[in-house]
Amino acid sequence: MSLWNKHEVFEKHSIVLVIGILVVVAIGGLVEIAPLFYLKSTIEKVEGMRPYTPLELAGRNVYIREGCYLCHSQMIRPMRDELERYGHFSLAAESMYDHPFQWGSKRTGPDLARVGGKYSDEWHRDHLANPRSVVPESIMPGYPFLLNAKVETRDIADHLKANAVVGVPYSEEQIGEAARDLVAQANPDSDNVDAFLERYPNAIVRDFDGDPKRVSEMDALVAYLQMLGTLVDFSIYDNKANLR
Ligand code: HEC
Repeated sequence: MSLWNKHEVFEKHSIVLVIGILVVVAIGGLVEIAPLFYLKSTIEKVEGMRPYTPLELAGRNVYIREGCYLCHSQMIRPMRDELERYGHFSLAAESMYDHPFQWGSKRTGPDLARVGGKYSDEWHRDHLANPRSVVPESIMPGYPFLLNAKVETRDIADHLKANAVVGVPYSEEQIGEAARDLVAQANPDSDNVDAFLERYPNAIVRDFDGDPKRVSEMDALVAYLQMLGTLVDFSIYDNKANLR
């Protein structure tokens, strides 16, 4: 039997072939998986990323409760048609504080990963209350009740705490002041705004729902939508990549 016929043993004995396959797959698996155990994080750190503010987190909870993810994805893929329509493709780091992540698998409506800053607060208010009022051909359902639903501040500290347990770096202070920070972000005239901005330096403070007297779920959801995809400054990021 020449050297080239040695594989006959695999071809004629199925058990030997199965064992051979297992050995090869195990080696391939080890090569792929073992290095991951020695990395502290598989997500490349990106400048600008910060945990959600309490108001944004409350808005994100509304987003999940209302099932917006059933029609909207939050992940721009690195393909030309997506880049031209939505902007820079999504980075892993941009969803590093998302528990659970909102990448989604269905786009009945457009991707929302970079919707922040694309429209005014007023547009979002009108659109969420009645999508047909601003996009006549829209098939999106309306959520007019958000304007009258007060945001629950009682349990917001617990939401921050739960996120901290799974690795979001909220400080004790951020958790302790969560309820006050939530109200401050929607009230530009509040005395607590400066302290809030110290805790969340690049957050937007605005009366998102157009009624300064209340903090509604509309405030929370619009605050969340308006910050989506805005934390990373891609002009810096892309220039750095070009220099490399
Ligand atoms: C039944 C599917 C469906 C659901 C559920 C849905 N949307 Fe939409 N959404 C759409 C469609 C379709 C459009 C495109 C037409 C339009 O702008 O209204 C859209 C558009 C949008 C836009 C504008 C995006 C852009 O770039 O122009 C935003 C923002 C948005 N939706 C937010 C939400 C939020 C927040 C929720 C949950 C409260 C939600 N949607 C739930 C289908 C849906």
